[in-house]
Amino acid sequence: METQKQIILTGDRPTGRLHLGHYVGSLKRRVELQNSGKYDEINILIADDQALTDNADNPAKIRDNIINVVLDYLSAGLDPEKTTICIQSALPALHALTFYYMNLVTTARLARNPTVKSEIQMRGFADEGLPVGFFAYPVSQAADITAFDATVVPVGEDQLPMIEQTREIVEKFNRLYGDTLVLPKAMIPENETQRRLPGVDGKAKMSKSLGNCIYLSDTPKTVKQQVNGKMFTDPTHLRIEDPGHTEGNVVFTYLDALCTDDHFAEYLPEYKNLDEMKEHYRRGGLGDGKCKKFLIQVLEETLSPIRAERAKWEKDIATVYDILSAGTQKARETTNATLARVQKAMRIDYFADRAIIKEWEKLLKNK
Ligand code: TRP
Repeated sequence: METQKQIILTGDRPTGRLHLGHYVGSLKRRVELQNSGKYDEINILIADDQALTDNADNPAKIRDNIINVVLDYLSAGLDPEKTTICIQSALPALHALTFYYMNLVTTARLARNPTVKSEIQMRGFADEGLPVGFFAYPVSQAADITAFDATVVPVGEDQLPMIEQTREIVEKFNRLYGDTLVLPKAMIPENETQRRLPGVDGKAKMSKSLGNCIYLSDTPKTVKQQVNGKMFTDPTHLRIEDPGHTEGNVVFTYLDALCTDDHFAEYLPEYKNLDEMKEHYRRGGLGDGKCKKFLIQVLEETLSPIRAERAKWEKDIATVYDILSAGTQKARETTNATLARVQKAMRIDYFADRAIIKEWEKLLKNK
């Protein structure tokens, strides 16, 4: 048997610009995976159909944010020469696969998905009524993943139930119709801060509605305001000489996620690394203002190249459009091929060849 190709598929709902939480939790790693040379294929899906499952009343929001998300991808270092970027709604094979997979999943099973459960609460669907499309989006996500024959799906922890659901669908499909679909594996961020960068206000998650995000496209002025105006440090660290706490201190959480020893060499050479700085803070004698100033420098070192790239791409939206169009065309071929394989396995590939004429004739003769 030929060795299994290593194929990555992941995606985002285009409902807003990407923020530092996205960068730390997924975007940065996608770029590393892309550049590692270890994968045969990397595909990134802009999941606009999935975004519509809870935004059916506002398709314009999705349309507008597709360009924002692509610009964030390109400016963070995703390279269309190495990574295929495509739009979900323009891949009709995904819709067909979703329809077949829906027969392999029970409503009881979908109702148990913990991520969907909490999203239903958050969106008020428990009271208003639950759209079928939203309830079933994990099935469509299984279609996304399997259509690309993905072996590895880099996602946040909250997406693990979707990968689990996908694996069940793959196993059931292969059992019923013969070995056809590839069994994928989730890949989640290695450490705690990467998994969930808190908002600048220290709340569990960056979220647009809480106004606690730092967006990749924010200006230096906004970044500074978010850090200086919204980040609480340690409430017991009143005077500089007081001993401080670094655990649960947002400034240090962000530094954990972003800073390197090089940042110290450049901006704060009195410490070799974050451990030394933390040690000083805990002992007392290191002021919050100085910590925040350093954090702003680290943030700028991270964000300014992204901002500069974005400014370039923003001047050339026609090229961005062509990148999306080419990526989607390539993805259409990939996903159509999977659909053909699936329909063949299910024996519903009626127009794949004319052999069925003989088969039907024979059937009628034997009657
Ligand atoms: N559900 C994912 C999210 O909200 C987005 C997504 C859609 C996705 N299709 C996917 C992620 C396929 C991984 C693989 O972030």
